[in-house]
Amino acid sequence: MRNVKCLLLILSLFLPLIQTFGQAATSRDAASKRAADLLAKMTLEEKIGQLNQLFFLSQLMKPEMMEPDIREGRVGSLLFVTDPVLINRFQKVAVEQSRLKIPLLFGFDVIHGFRTVFPVPLAMASSWDPAMVERAQTIAAREARAAGVRWTFAPMVDIARDPRWGRIVEGAGEDPYLGAKMSAAQVRGFQGSDPSAPGRLLACVKHFAGYGAADGGRDYDSAHLSDAELYNVYLPPFKAAVDAGVGTVMSAYMNLNDVPATGNVFLLGQVLRKEWGFKGFVVSDANSVGDLVTHGFAADKADAALRALTAGVDMEMSLPGTAVGGAYADNLAKLVKEGRVTTAQIDNAVRRILEVKLKLGLFDNPYVDESATASHHNNPEHRQIARVAAQRSAVLLRNEGNLLPLTKGDPKVSSIAVIGPLADSKRDMRGPWTLADDLKTAITVVEGMREKVGPGVKVNYAQGVDIGRAYPSIFAIFAGPRPAPWSELQKREEFEKALALARSSDLVVLVLGEHEEMSGEAASHSTIDLPGRQRELLEAVSALGKPTVLVLINGRPVDISWAVNRVPAILEAWHPGSEGGNAIADLIYGDATPGGKLPVTWPRSSGQIPIYYARHLTQKPESAKDFTSRYWDMPTSPLYPFGYGLSYTTFAYSNLRVSKAEAKVGESVEVLVDVENTGRKAGEEVAQLYIHQRAGSASRPMRELKGFERIALAPGEKKTVRLTIGRAELTYWSSAVKGWVQEPATFDVWAGGDSTATLTTTFRIVR
Ligand code: BGC
Repeated sequence: MRNVKCLLLILSLFLPLIQTFGQAATSRDAASKRAADLLAKMTLEEKIGQLNQLFFLSQLMKPEMMEPDIREGRVGSLLFVTDPVLINRFQKVAVEQSRLKIPLLFGFDVIHGFRTVFPVPLAMASSWDPAMVERAQTIAAREARAAGVRWTFAPMVDIARDPRWGRIVEGAGEDPYLGAKMSAAQVRGFQGSDPSAPGRLLACVKHFAGYGAADGGRDYDSAHLSDAELYNVYLPPFKAAVDAGVGTVMSAYMNLNDVPATGNVFLLGQVLRKEWGFKGFVVSDANSVGDLVTHGFAADKADAALRALTAGVDMEMSLPGTAVGGAYADNLAKLVKEGRVTTAQIDNAVRRILEVKLKLGLFDNPYVDESATASHHNNPEHRQIARVAAQRSAVLLRNEGNLLPLTKGDPKVSSIAVIGPLADSKRDMRGPWTLADDLKTAITVVEGMREKVGPGVKVNYAQGVDIGRAYPSIFAIFAGPRPAPWSELQKREEFEKALALARSSDLVVLVLGEHEEMSGEAASHSTIDLPGRQRELLEAVSALGKPTVLVLINGRPVDISWAVNRVPAILEAWHPGSEGGNAIADLIYGDATPGGKLPVTWPRSSGQIPIYYARHLTQKPESAKDFTSRYWDMPTSPLYPFGYGLSYTTFAYSNLRVSKAEAKVGESVEVLVDVENTGRKAGEEVAQLYIHQRAGSASRPMRELKGFERIALAPGEKKTVRLTIGRAELTYWSSAVKGWVQEPATFDVWAGGDSTATLTTTFRIVR
């Protein structure tokens, strides 16, 4: 009887799983069957149409221009349409007027919000809080889906170790372990357990792969990466997305080890499909098929189409009317007729796309409810979550003499000067890839501070300096141009005005950094210097000797080495999103406590780039007397290490121990450490675990992040953090054996609040 009960219990536990698995398998089978039936009815032209994705830019195009192509079945997907009325209009043509009534798939870059803007991805990674990131992307998905968008070109998971590269802002920074956690969290946030469910989007992990390693930090430039760097550093966040069930993958623009990513058989065939078993479809980056000609890889556009399709790019994203666009649409039919591309190759790509469309339920429910949009947009609950996300993403870099948090109602402060080019700029609170929000609703630092201190304290604002790009941004057509640069006279007057304001106020909040279009795509910067005369403003304001808080609004680490010994408080807020100004005021006044940590190593200056913590020790460490592997003018250590960030309280780590001193290959080791809040305020700490393999078939980085947890601690409270090091954490791709290995070795372990943690122990892995 007991056994029967046990069996029933086991069955009841597994039944839902078996059922879900069964349902998933059935829907997969049903989708493949319907896709096969449909495929059998399609002409070659209609098939090629499904592989064709076009931009529709309402700034430049009229819907009538697009409709004939949709009607004739020449388009499978559109991107950049975010108006539900227009989405339904195009969809109606596809499902009511085209021969086979195949619905369009509408895609858009929902990178960090849609109507409600969340902090930029680099900022969200600074939260070290995957659950929060998942929540933010769930809301972004809900808002975009309400407008009729079904597919987001996110998450962007490119590892970036060169902050000159503007797209560092779109990813999770330099580390594969943190990057993988953020990648999976975002896929879960967008897709949930089923991307067809209400409020969910199909996700697209990008840009596969190695894009972040662009030479010189120049966007789209070549990347040269060894297989070991690829497998151990650049690919893990992609693998995490695939394991989390991401539906699509975008191929990258650049050339990887001489073979452009969009025509790269090794990446798309070997790694993605063979090694990882990816079953969804691959879309090219915009015009990146045609770019294969520019790369000097394909002979002409027909050759480019041939090479991309055979490498594994199923859908081509292109901008109609451009010289590099339309490689598939213009050439595939001819290539099939000439026998250079087989029908089976075309069919495979079409099938994958149709299966995704079927699984999304597009054939049964192609339209969006136009009346539902309003209730999902400008939602106060979404705004509140964005505010918390911005609080949790901020990193406190310095807080000399505990200047922060400020005290509300402090009788010594009756006026505050909020100064700088980012202090009252709604546009710059949001960061790149914010094309669907309502700009008016973004809260600036000036607004947030005024709201926080109330009418009793005067908040004065001056811009002080103007900043701008030397070359315009490609996104100017969406956001509009910036005001014309100031004249020399205006420059002098505005600078003086800001100084006078600072002089006459009791406290200064300087808000410096970068415009939103100074990072992101096609936004590489030759240095990490603060643009324009911001450094001069910083020096002049600091010389006044007022209590000064420096708030940074930016998409990459910037050179603040001058400030770190002179400005008492520095808060990195990144581009914090729609609620940024409120969140910053919350942090400044202690209604929220900073707990974010840097997801990137912060250089002292541009000359140290590239710099990252997971280096290999090739000479003596810098602490050695006879250390020679250094610059002769500055330390090799960064300004702030990876994982760094302060709180309004302090934490102490102790009692680091391992569950066993020795484990067999394949077994796990538990690492435990006690973390105590030793200050007088409640706070949150990100406990981090790093390991180092002392010897092996290949040399391993000095430290690698292999676990973390963000925990909340009341004053005096102590918690034990328990992290597991198992096979996944101990396995690496060895250049020596050209494959994955887990080797017997001694491992050092460190636990602490950043990548320079000193509390250490060891364990051994034996055969
Ligand atoms: C970017 C992609 C983006 C695509 C569509 C490209 O230029 O590299 O990240 O998803 O445009 O907007």
